[in-house]
Amino acid sequence: AQTAEALPRAPVVTVMGHVDHGKTSLLDYIRRAKVAAGEAGGITQHIGAYHVQTERGMVSFLDTPGHEAFTAMRARGAQATDIVILVVAADDGVMPQTKEAIKHAKAAGVPIVVAINKIDKPDASPDRVKQELVTEEVVPEEYGGDVPFVPVSAKTGQGIDELLEQVLLQAEVLELKAPVDAAAKGLVIEAQLDKGRGPVATVLVQSGTLKTGDVVLAGSTYGRVRAMLDEDGKTIKSAGPSIPVEIQGLTEVPQAGDEFMVMSDERRAREIATYRAGKFRNTKLAKAQA
Ligand code: GTP
Ligand code: NA
Ligand code: MG
Repeated sequence: AQTAEALPRAPVVTVMGHVDHGKTSLLDYIRRAKVAAGEAGGITQHIGAYHVQTERGMVSFLDTPGHEAFTAMRARGAQATDIVILVVAADDGVMPQTKEAIKHAKAAGVPIVVAINKIDKPDASPDRVKQELVTEEVVPEEYGGDVPFVPVSAKTGQGIDELLEQVLLQAEVLELKAPVDAAAKGLVIEAQLDKGRGPVATVLVQSGTLKTGDVVLAGSTYGRVRAMLDEDGKTIKSAGPSIPVEIQGLTEVPQAGDEFMVMSDERRAREIATYRAGKFRNTKLAKAQA
């Protein structure tokens, strides 16, 4: 039985919005690392997970791709998150993936903070963005709604402190807590097979503390955590609530969106994983035959 006391935890914030509206650039500015520049063609293809220390505490960020093809990832991002930063380019306005992001955030019941980005551009029209968002029932505080709108520029840094401020204010209202001294649970954010390292998964710890050596059941796979890396590729030994971490040691590649949990009994973890894998194969087979 785990009766570990729930302690305050960092908010998990997902950055969503239409393609090229500046999600990665915004995070890049916040992290002061050149992430957007490092991506192939500046196109986000996967969910990036980072944590950042601010003056008022830690914030974890998930970056999502804006491209049409990545609907499932945006849905996953919205589910894994406490707050959504909806990025809308001030020179482009509300676009299809803006609307889709709103839908996911609302379905997940997650508060939205709007970042009207690219405010530095000569053709920026923040008032038009506001009006278009009102049409989508995302209503700014100044129009009687409850959604903070912050004009920002990921290029000049204008408004980014204010944006973080609004995010932290929302987080305070949520009074986020999780047990720390307990077996870890959370979500698989993304996973792939690495040539040298085998299955690797980026997981978000939602409660408890994940440690090297722990036995993890993740969807229909399991394994013992052999190594853990933070987003800078640095080896870490443990990760508490709201921390994203890359783990090695699973026997198969889990599915993004799978839940994971630490188990004390490795044999039991294997049994459950094997059972689920069988069911999963049967479902796929049934679908293929239908
Ligand atoms: P996807 O991940 O592909 O959906 O795009 P994204 O939303 O992450 O956008 P990204 O950060 O890749 O930025 C797209 C382009 O807009 C890049 O060329 C950025 O340099 C540019 N950009 C982003 N933010 C700003 C801004 O505030 N001002 C200006 N002028 N350009 C910006
Ligand atoms: Na882009
Ligand atoms: Mg991006």
